[in-house]
Amino acid sequence: MRIVVIGTGYVGLVTGTCLAETGITVTCVDVDQTKIDLLNSGGIPIYEPGLAELVVRNTEHERLFFTASLQGTLQAADAVFIAVGTPPDEDGSADLSYVLGAAKQIGQLIDKYTVVITKSTVPVGTNWKVKAAVQAELDRRGVSIPFDVASNPEFLKEGDAINDFMMPDRVVIGVESEKAKEVLNRLYHFFVLNNVPILFMDIPSAEMTKYAANSMLATRISFMNDIANLCELTGADVDAVKRGIGSDTRIGKKFLNAGIGYGGSCFPKDVKALIKTGEERGYHLEVLKAVEKVNERQKSRLFGKITKHYGGDIRGRRFGIWGLSFKPATDDMREAPSLSLIEKLLEAGAILTVFDPVAMEEAYRKLGDRVHYAPNMYAALEGADALLVVTEWQEFKVPKFTYIEKALKEKVIFDGRNIYDPGQMKDFGYTYYGIGK
Ligand SMILES: NC(=O)c1ccc[n+]([C@@H]2O[C@H](COP(=O)([O-])OP(=O)(O)OC[C@H]3O[C@@H](n4cnc5c(N)ncnc54)[C@H](O)[C@@H]3O)[C@@H](O)[C@H]2O)c1
Repeated sequence: MRIVVIGTGYVGLVTGTCLAETGITVTCVDVDQTKIDLLNSGGIPIYEPGLAELVVRNTEHERLFFTASLQGTLQAADAVFIAVGTPPDEDGSADLSYVLGAAKQIGQLIDKYTVVITKSTVPVGTNWKVKAAVQAELDRRGVSIPFDVASNPEFLKEGDAINDFMMPDRVVIGVESEKAKEVLNRLYHFFVLNNVPILFMDIPSAEMTKYAANSMLATRISFMNDIANLCELTGADVDAVKRGIGSDTRIGKKFLNAGIGYGGSCFPKDVKALIKTGEERGYHLEVLKAVEKVNERQKSRLFGKITKHYGGDIRGRRFGIWGLSFKPATDDMREAPSLSLIEKLLEAGAILTVFDPVAMEEAYRKLGDRVHYAPNMYAALEGADALLVVTEWQEFKVPKFTYIEKALKEKVIFDGRNIYDPGQMKDFGYTYYGIGK
């Protein structure tokens, strides 16, 4: 079986590579020539654990190819994935220009039956727009070529994307024809063999499933942050509460960590887009509006604790920041809570030295010379008034406290991810601030 994947970002590259790993011949296409050149020379444009090895292996086995031109790739393909970005428009709705641009190109180039599978996260109804865009190009060419559209939203999480793709909880597929269903069944044969549930449904339900999933996860985060803030006011400990409620199988243990808010390339934009979808139909998603509001407020929470500690004035104070990516094990800084905290700190006159295990280049692209960059986690703390923990990378969880003590001017830690035990911090002589403690 042969497929084409349009868009070689976090989702497209993982999808293409993992499907090649299952024995399918995959051509990944991206308009970004630099990305394609890098991939063709053995480099990987993103940080994703385990991805490089898979790309090398499948390229060597001639199952995985990279090109900057869609031309000439579709003739032999049974299906084409659209995995391009759907960033938020100014009004919060999903910008579909990349998806529909890709659909238009497909319509210009297919010459036999093809299934056009949208993997990008798109609002309900987008697949009909994809279908119309492909058909419009076929009409313009004056040809009658059969095709189907299908929705196959992606649920991988950055940092563990390979495992998520290869061993998913489920694969969600929206189809409207038996022929498309048969192609998708062949495409996901490896997963069927591994007992992964393949959930076929209608296309609007598949599109909605993705938004409902991300919105549910964002809701859990905001809910726990709200509870954490109340814990601070009542003397309860949010981590104990998390254990208490997470042990209830109806609730489950995941996505219950309090912190400084969710970020990343998906939750903020998907929650916004779903609210917008509701509004377009005259329906107000009140829960999600509150989820957004709580998240915005939570992003200022650590800043509030910092300024309060210094009596409202942090001008000239030096802080060492650990963690810049929106979560551990990725270099993705899209909508990262670190960015809003850094902006607030800079505006208030603080001097910042930052460190992240993999997002330093990305940080420089976003922040330039406005902050200092440390070569390692301890160097970020040299002469600093306090340590600020912003992303819960594993190496930050088990630091050498003697090194921290030596580097800091005062033993103060603001822990935005609750990675340290307040009791232990007290024993070590630190002034410690967590979230919901
Ligand atoms: N990043 C995630 O964790 C994640 C998880 C699940 C779903 N999604 C969804 O998947 C989609 C892609 O997300 P991403 O993070 O991979 O985006 P990305 O920005 O990392 O990658 C998109 C890529 O598409 C390319 N592109 C745009 N138009 C193109 C065209 N016409 N032809 C060829 N290439 C084109 C861009 O150059 C870019 O490399 C989004 O809708 C996102 O919401 C993302």
